[in-house]
Amino acid sequence: MRGKHVLVGVTGGIAAYKAGYLVRDLVKSGAEVKVMMTEAGTRFVTPLTFSALSKNPVFTDLWTNNQSSDSDISTQHIDLANWADVLVIAPASANTIAKLAYGISDNLLAVVALATTRPIILAPTMDAEMYLNPVTQNNLTSLKERGYIVIPPVEGELASGLSGPGRLPEIKIIIETIGKILDQSHQDLKKKRILVTAGPTYEAIDPVRFVGNRSSGKMGFAIANAAAQRGAEVTLVAGPTHLETPRNVTRIDVESAQEMLTAVLAHTKKTDAIIMAAAVADYRPANPAKHKIKKHSSSKALELQLEATTDILAMLGKKKRSMTLVGFALETKDELAGAKEKLRKKNLDLIVLNSFGKQNRVFGSNLNTVAMIDKRGKVEQLPIMPKFDIANKILNKIKTLL
Ligand code: CTP
Repeated sequence: MRGKHVLVGVTGGIAAYKAGYLVRDLVKSGAEVKVMMTEAGTRFVTPLTFSALSKNPVFTDLWTNNQSSDSDISTQHIDLANWADVLVIAPASANTIAKLAYGISDNLLAVVALATTRPIILAPTMDAEMYLNPVTQNNLTSLKERGYIVIPPVEGELASGLSGPGRLPEIKIIIETIGKILDQSHQDLKKKRILVTAGPTYEAIDPVRFVGNRSSGKMGFAIANAAAQRGAEVTLVAGPTHLETPRNVTRIDVESAQEMLTAVLAHTKKTDAIIMAAAVADYRPANPAKHKIKKHSSSKALELQLEATTDILAMLGKKKRSMTLVGFALETKDELAGAKEKLRKKNLDLIVLNSFGKQNRVFGSNLNTVAMIDKRGKVEQLPIMPKFDIANKILNKIKTLL
């Protein structure tokens, strides 16, 4: 923690008083701490308390110069956003979570959260009903998809007298999370350019229908998210998905295999690694209809003629020089042999084999089981784990290949 700049955001909630212990312990561990409070936060604990604990002025208002007399109020939010190595909002109220999810920036804390590119950690605390309300849960899901780190509240007795999830976790847990994040944000992939593809492709049958597949895009989005958190310059070429764009990632939306090919080729120059996590269609309707195909009561069947798409990965494999090329495989039998064959045929440096077991539903799940196989045939089987953790394992491996 020594020398790290930790920006703490305190919002309105009974747990605001516990943020005092957080600030005290962060300062004790050698961090430099600045505190921002929302107006509601100041109703629970006075800024003076945090100023004494952090040994710094406390920032409460967008329109007041909280720093020194020579600093410029018009850039105060940007100065804070750039000063922070990490922003920790604890406690994070339902209101602030909703504001962050929608980019509403009507107070200093929300503006800084919008402006900073550094990791943001949220510790939601509120009454259990508010926390479990689908609105709050959806907001938290979309923030997590974008790369916010959420420390879930613990269960127990709440200020209302009711019981459930809503309490601030132990300060030790929050500090451990900050430590882990600061460690990751050592930015070990800084200056690396990584291109990731994700999601399915849709191949038009007519202007309304398509041939597609069940890929959710979660694995590729997790890789893009993790790589950006580790400092890489990430371009994400995404097929149709409902996932949020991770912070600090450039996203290009495509629909068909052909569009994905064009987007990938346009961004291969100066790329250090390409990770093809997308489930690209191997075949597409040969003659997509211009107009919606009508149902004819006389014909019982409709035949679709399919033609092969370009294998993007194989094409990249043929022309690659120093670039690291990573593919994915999903096999339903002879899994390892099939993956190794793909690695060889497509001239890859690494292939990630998705396991298609009965208990392990790959599609749409946040968990997955994969094996990584490198060029020398070395197999590393990973246990079942969240896709975000798998993403970091894949990136660790890629780092050794770059
Ligand atoms: N892939 C690609 N372009 C395609 C098809 C696949 O770049 N037109 C990539 C995928 O992104 C994935 C890898 O190739 O990284 C493996 O795809 P998969 O469909 O499993 O393998 P195929 O070689 O198409 O073989 P099969 O479908 O017969 O298993």
